[in-house]
Amino acid sequence: MISMTNVVKRFNGNTVLSDVSFSVKSGEIFGLLGPSGAGKTTIINILAKQLTAEEGSHTVDVEDFTQVGLMLEEDGLYARLTALQNLNLFAGIYGVDKAKTEEALKSVGLAEESKKPVAKLSKGMRQRLALARAIIHSPKVLFLDEPTANLDPNTARGIHKLVFALRDSGTTVFLTTHNMEEAVNLCDNVALLHKGEIVEYGAPGDICQRHDSFKTVPDLESVFVKLTGVVLE
Ligand SMILES: Nc1ncnc2c1ncn2[C@@H]1O[C@H](COP(=O)(O)OP(=O)(O)OP(=O)(O)O)[C@@H](O)[C@H]1O
Ligand SMILES: [Mg+2]
Repeated sequence: MISMTNVVKRFNGNTVLSDVSFSVKSGEIFGLLGPSGAGKTTIINILAKQLTAEEGSHTVDVEDFTQVGLMLEEDGLYARLTALQNLNLFAGIYGVDKAKTEEALKSVGLAEESKKPVAKLSKGMRQRLALARAIIHSPKVLFLDEPTANLDPNTARGIHKLVFALRDSGTTVFLTTHNMEEAVNLCDNVALLHKGEIVEYGAPGDICQRHDSFKTVPDLESVFVKLTGVVLE
């Protein structure tokens, strides 16, 4: 459904992605893991055609890009409009029935905040609103850049449930995270990004078994440290 082959990306002569190849199967939750600055957001931006790569090829298997949902760190919400108005604006652009906006707000636990201007929402609420906006048009492929960063554990679990429900309804979900527990619990397959390359790929449990880091639960964190020497916060 999504693939990258030998992608190279440089910013002002600095190579950020030196040779990235991986693929994501249709209908799975795929997690791209890596420390801060590894190039996770850059990969999403390349796949979502917000940035171009210097070398290599990549595909997202959709008829057109309106079938893609995108949630980035920079939420791009209109601060002076209310939560509902922000969603209605997008619903208008995508030709989605406005009834869907209330449903989307509810699904991210923001029904109560619908009439609040975005400027008055907390960071976590803005993040959830950006997620609601990303799914409002029922995308076939959904890119989520650190969907649960800054969220309390309860809210994060709510987002996980939503991601599972989206996967179960046929959406392919591509997410990035620093959180190994999240990766183990949520993702069907993960790729570990280090120094511009993918250093491991597979189901979290299989990766941990390969590296002998399977005690009572798969310990993806130790695998990552073993492979890269980097401790993710
Ligand atoms: N527009 C840009 N211009 C110059 N350098 C950039 C640009 N965007 C990203 N970079 C650099 O590319 C590298 C990868 O950045 P990226 O944002 O993709 O990392 P990340 O893995 O998403 O990190 P984080 O976990 O902190 O979000 C960093 O060194 C960053 O400074
Ligand atoms: Mg990032």
